[in-house]
Amino acid sequence: MLSFADFDTRGYRTVDVRTGYGQWVTTYDDTVEDVMDIALLEDLTEPSWHTVRRAADLGCGTGRTAAWLRRHGVSAIDGVDLTPEMLAVARSRQVHDRLREADVTDTGLEDAAYDLVIASLIDEHLPDLGPLYAEARRIAEPGALFVLVVFHPHFIMTSGMPTHFTSASGEPIAIATHVHLFSDHVTAAVRAGWTLTEMREGVIDDRWIARKPKWERFRNHPVSAALVWRKPS
Ligand SMILES: C[S@@+](CC[C@H](N)C(=O)[O-])C[C@H]1O[C@@H](n2cnc3c(N)ncnc32)[C@H](O)[C@@H]1O
Repeated sequence: MLSFADFDTRGYRTVDVRTGYGQWVTTYDDTVEDVMDIALLEDLTEPSWHTVRRAADLGCGTGRTAAWLRRHGVSAIDGVDLTPEMLAVARSRQVHDRLREADVTDTGLEDAAYDLVIASLIDEHLPDLGPLYAEARRIAEPGALFVLVVFHPHFIMTSGMPTHFTSASGEPIAIATHVHLFSDHVTAAVRAGWTLTEMREGVIDDRWIARKPKWERFRNHPVSAALVWRKPS
């Protein structure tokens, strides 16, 4: 398993997920770029969003992903997140039916209850992907899809940049970040019984450069990816 420390070019003080997102929450929605995740969701040919009956939104954060799902016709969504402050914002947004404070690897959600499981921008916070894919499989009904949007391992390694935010006092703070190769995803997913149906990669393009001119040096480097897995019927 790779360690982010071997790639870190920033050396920011690092905090755990709950501490980090508990502070980032006030500026989170203004700093996360839709081109990172939403643009990839827009490009997927599956799922057929409007036919989704019930979705589980793992690592739901402030409800960004669920808000997008609702706009695309998904009407029943349950969310799970570890950080109470992020859940409070999601609650005020009213885009979920139920919200639970829990780990994505032990959600407490019902067995085989969802035809869509989605986890956007959380994998880099998990030391091991196996428990996530296993838990997603447990709560997915036969034939369900599991959509993951991930921070691209190439970008984490090339930029040496962890997931981070700027605190109220102006300090850049990293949130514990792990590097997962795509072979780590495939190994964990196949072991849990998932089959890959679609994959997209997003690169640093004009949309990114318009938002972050300093990233011209990363032009055409892959920065994020979407994976769509199916549970056998
Ligand atoms: C980058 S945010 C993504 C939120 C949302 N999915 C989005 O796309 O905006 C990561 C979220 O994952 C949550 N998270 C990280 N590790 C988690 C874990 N092991 N279990 C539950 N939630 C976790 C954090 O609390 C945070 O709200």
